[in-house]
Amino acid sequence: MNSLNLALRRRLIETIGRIAGMPEVSAIVLVGAGGVFSAGADIGEFDTQQAFVEPSIHAVMAAVESSTKPVIAGIEGLAMGGGLELAMAAHCRVAMAGSRIALPEIKLGLIPGAGGTQRLPRAIGLEAAARMICNGDPVRADAPSLAGLFDLVVEQDLLEACLGLAQRIVRDGMKASLLRDRAMPAPASPLFYQELEQRAGSKGQWPAAVNACIACLRAAEAMPVEAGLAFEREAFMKLFDSPVSGALRHAFIAERTAAKIAGLPVQTGIRPLRAAAVVGAGTMGAGIAMTFANAGIPVRLLEMKEDALERGLAVIRANYEGSVRRGKLSRADCDQRLALIRPTLSYEELRDADVVVEAVYEDMDAKAGVFRQLDTFCKPGAILASNTSTLNLDKLAAVTSRPADVVGMHFFVPANVMPLLEVVKARETSAEVLASVMKLAKRLKKTGVVSGVCDGFIGNRMIDPYLRQAYFLLEEGALPEQIDRALEAWGMAMGPFRAGDLTGLDVLWSVRKRRYVEVPGVVYSRLPDRLCELGRFGQKTGAGYYRYEPGAREGKPDDAVRALVEGYSAEIGRARRQISDEEIVSRCMLALVNEGAAILDERIAQRASDIDAVYLLGYGFPAFRGGPMYYADTLGLREVIASMARFQEQAGSDPAFWQPHRLLLELAESNGTFN
Ligand SMILES: NC(=O)c1ccc[n+]([C@@H]2O[C@H](COP(=O)([O-])OP(=O)(O)OC[C@H]3O[C@@H](n4cnc5c(N)ncnc54)[C@H](O)[C@@H]3O)[C@@H](O)[C@H]2O)c1
Repeated sequence: MNSLNLALRRRLIETIGRIAGMPEVSAIVLVGAGGVFSAGADIGEFDTQQAFVEPSIHAVMAAVESSTKPVIAGIEGLAMGGGLELAMAAHCRVAMAGSRIALPEIKLGLIPGAGGTQRLPRAIGLEAAARMICNGDPVRADAPSLAGLFDLVVEQDLLEACLGLAQRIVRDGMKASLLRDRAMPAPASPLFYQELEQRAGSKGQWPAAVNACIACLRAAEAMPVEAGLAFEREAFMKLFDSPVSGALRHAFIAERTAAKIAGLPVQTGIRPLRAAAVVGAGTMGAGIAMTFANAGIPVRLLEMKEDALERGLAVIRANYEGSVRRGKLSRADCDQRLALIRPTLSYEELRDADVVVEAVYEDMDAKAGVFRQLDTFCKPGAILASNTSTLNLDKLAAVTSRPADVVGMHFFVPANVMPLLEVVKARETSAEVLASVMKLAKRLKKTGVVSGVCDGFIGNRMIDPYLRQAYFLLEEGALPEQIDRALEAWGMAMGPFRAGDLTGLDVLWSVRKRRYVEVPGVVYSRLPDRLCELGRFGQKTGAGYYRYEPGAREGKPDDAVRALVEGYSAEIGRARRQISDEEIVSRCMLALVNEGAAILDERIAQRASDIDAVYLLGYGFPAFRGGPMYYADTLGLREVIASMARFQEQAGSDPAFWQPHRLLLELAESNGTFN
C-alpha cells in the first residue's frame, strides 16, 4: 500500500536528491508500485513515534516542492491521507479515472497534518475541501468536484500520460505551479462554517477534529501559506495527543491486528474455499447464506423440511428486495445473489462444499446429528463449522472422524450486516483450517477474531458479568431506563435492557437457567427471571423491560416494571438507594474488564486488542473509548482495582464478583497495561 513509513520516506528523500543531481534528467514522475499510489501514513508507526522521526513527511514534501525539476505525481488505486498530501506537493498531478482519493484523518479524530487543509482548498475550493476533510470518505478522481486538483485524468496508460505532461512542461514550456503558490479561493460564507460546526458530533465526525478543520481553513484564508501550514501542524499535534484520537487509533489498529493468528507456523497452507453450504435456514442460517452470496460464493442452504426452507428463502428474498427498493442494491445484483443461494433438503448436495456452516437449534443432540451427517457426506478436506453461541465445540468435533476440520464460526445477528466473526479454535482444529477461515472472514467482509473454547467465547462470556451487574443495580435502586440512559450517554450504542428486549429475554433466560446448573456458585439476581415468568420476552411479545406499542420498536418505560423491580428489592430486604450514572457505568465496565483479564490470562483471546475488537465490532462499544481493555488501560489498572475494592465493600455486594483477576493484579503491580 506504499504506506509512508520511515523506510519509504528515507528512500523517497534519497531518490529525489539523487535524481535532482542527474543532468540528463529534466523531470521526475512519482508513481506507486503495485497499482496503488499510497495509502498514507503508517498508523502503527504513530504510537511508536517513528512517524515523527526525520525525514518526516514534511521533509519529503519539502524535497518535492523545492525540486528544481518538475515533479509529476501519477495516481492510481488509492491516494489517501499523507499519500494525497504528498501528491499535492508535486508540481502536477495525473490520475487514473477510477482511483480513489481521500483525507480520512477525521476517522481517527485527526485532521490532515501535512498541508491537506492548506493545499486542498487552493485546488478545489473551500467548500469541496471542507467536505472531503470533514467526512473523510473517498472520492473518485474523475469526480467533477476534483477538477482543480488534477492536470489530467486518464482512463489508461498512466505512466505515459505523466511522461507526456513532463515533456509539455520541459519541452513546450507549459507552466506548472505548486498548489501552495495558487491564490486562495474567495472566503467561504460564515453560514458554511456554521453548518460544518452543527454537523460535528454526528456519525464519525469528531467535534474537536471538525472544529480544528474549520480553524485551519480559516487560517488558510487569513494567513500566508507558511503560517497556515504551521498552524495546521500545531492543530494536528493537539488532536494527536487527545484521548479521543488515541482511542480511535487503537480501535483502528485493533481491528487490523485481529487478522494475525499468533504462533501460526510459517508454512501453514490455505484451503481454497470456492463453494459453501449452510445447514439451518433460521435467523442465523439465512443471514449467513446471504453473507456468502454477497461475497460471490455459491452456497447450498439445507433444511430438514420444505416449509422451513421456504420460510428461510422468503426472508432472504424480502431482505434483498428491501435493499433494491431502498436503492442500495441493483436489480441485477439482487438476482445474481439470489441465484447463488441454492436450497436443498438433501445432504447429498453438500458433497461439493468446501466449507459448511451449521446454524440449527442451539441443542447438542441436534447439532451432533448434523455433524454426523456432515462427516458422512462432505468431501475430505471440507471445513465443518458451527455457529454455536455456547455449546462445547470440542464435544461437537468429537462426533466426527475429522475433528481437525471442525471450527467455530460465530456470526452476530443480523449475520449479513454485523462486521464481527468470532473464529473459534477447538482443541483439535488444525492451523490450516483456522488460517483458511480467518482468510474467508476477510472475503466475507468480516473482521475475524480468534477465540478459544469457553462458555460464550470472548464476547458473550464477558457480557454475562456485565449483565449480572446491570441486574444487581436494579435490585439496589436503579431502573432499566436509568441504566440504559447512563450507558448510552457514555457511548454504548444500546443499554443492556433495550438490547435484551431486542435479542429476546427468553434467550438470555435459557442461558441463565443452564448456568444456574453448570456454575451453581455464581450469584445471579433472580429479578430478570421474574420478568420472563410474566411472559415478557421483549419486543417480540410487546413487553420486556419496556412496553412496546403495536408495531413500535422504541419502548416506553413501564410502571409495571418499576413496581416489579421495587417489589423485588423489598422482597430480598434491599433498601433502595440513589445510584449515580457514574457508578452504573463504572460497575458495568469494570465487570467487562475483569472478565476480559481472565479471558486473556486463559489465552481464550490472543491479545487484549482482540477483546477490544470484539466489543467494538459486535457489542456497540464506542470507538472513541477504544474498547474495554483499552479503556481500563486509560483509567490506569491501579485505579481499576481501587474502584473494584470500593464496590466490594458496598452493602449487599457479591464480594466474589469484585475479586480482581490475577492478571489484573499482576499488571497493576508492575504498572503495566493490557494493551
Ligand atoms: N439468534 C442469534 O442471535 C444468534 C447469534 C449467534 C449465534 N446463534 C446460534 O445460531 C444457531 C441458530 O440460531 P437461530 O437464531 O438462527 O435459530 P432459529 O431457530 O431461527 O433457526 C434454526 C433453524 O434450524 C433448522 N433446523 C433445526 N434442526 C435442523 C436440522 N437437523 N437440519 C437442518 N435444519 C435444522 C430449523 O428448522 C430452523 O429453521 C444457534 O446455534 C444459535 O445459538 C444465534
